[in-house]
Amino acid sequence: MRISVDEGCDRLSRGEVVAIPTETVYGLAGRLENPRAIEQIYQLKHRPSNNPMIIHLAQREQLQNYVRDMPPGIEDLMNAFWPGPLTLVLSIEPATIPAIARAHLSTAAFRIPKHPMARSIAQRVGPLVAPSANLSGRPSATLPQHVEEDFGLNFPVVDAGACTQGIESTILVFQAKQWRIARLGALSAEQLQPVLGYLPFLIAPTPSENQQLLCPGLLHRHYAPASQLFLSEKSYAGEVPVVIGFSDRTYPNAKRILALGASTDVETVSHRLYAILRQLDHERIPAAWVDLNVPHNGLWKTIRERLTRAAEQEAE
Ligand code: TXA
Ligand code: MG
Repeated sequence: MRISVDEGCDRLSRGEVVAIPTETVYGLAGRLENPRAIEQIYQLKHRPSNNPMIIHLAQREQLQNYVRDMPPGIEDLMNAFWPGPLTLVLSIEPATIPAIARAHLSTAAFRIPKHPMARSIAQRVGPLVAPSANLSGRPSATLPQHVEEDFGLNFPVVDAGACTQGIESTILVFQAKQWRIARLGALSAEQLQPVLGYLPFLIAPTPSENQQLLCPGLLHRHYAPASQLFLSEKSYAGEVPVVIGFSDRTYPNAKRILALGASTDVETVSHRLYAILRQLDHERIPAAWVDLNVPHNGLWKTIRERLTRAAEQEAE
């Protein structure tokens, strides 16, 4: 059910859960002050309870209500990328944030979305938790109909059409005197480098022996269609009839090509990625060959990671 910003605000204020647009992906929003709404989000998404949520603020001054100490460089990051697709994991004063929102961690993840509707909703009803508006494990929702596919036609969605970025925010955490990437996202390491003065490393999602579990969400299966994906960096030899590829390349004898965009246009590719993954399931296509002959840096690194995760098979 498509609803207006006003109705979205009314419903959130009444304690309901509502899907809202952000510049990255649609979020399943509830008020941070309302642990019952947060509980409902976990249930709706079938989200494991050890996977904390991102808190969406309207203004950076609000951080002071929750955060213990501000790591070095945070001002520069906020000046450069807030509002926008950057999430910061920070040590918090536990009493200020319901434990359920942060999966009982002593940290919480924050961002200020750039999307004017998301910001105005957070401004009017207060800070929001908003995980991506998809069933756990499925590709994120970048269109209102994706939300409806996962939660039904009657689920309230503040409709803003397609999300511009199409890929989730980049998550940074301050560790061992440096900001590190806990989740690759819409902002690349190369974009962060000039602001930080160094290229931030990506933290391995699986904890090594004496390392604390850092970004619990990354351990679960993610971004995956039911359809099986075969990733390849070689040229197409007709192995699988359906191809996910690029509009400026040819795939001789392919029965069907789902084009992500031109191989020179990473923004369009990221904008369309989840819609194409969801299209496979929508059309009940059992398998697709994916052209992964793309660069290893910039936003391409995020696209590679999402496709690799999407191709993983169910563990159980
Ligand atoms: O772009 C986005 O970030 C979207 C839009 C809606 O804002 N949201 C989003 O939320 O992607 P979600 O819940 O799908 O992903 C949140 C990620 C999870 O991998 C979770 O583990 C991580 O953030 N996270 C949340 N709190 C954390 C914390 N305290 N420490 C480490 N990771 C955390
Ligand atoms: Mg998600």
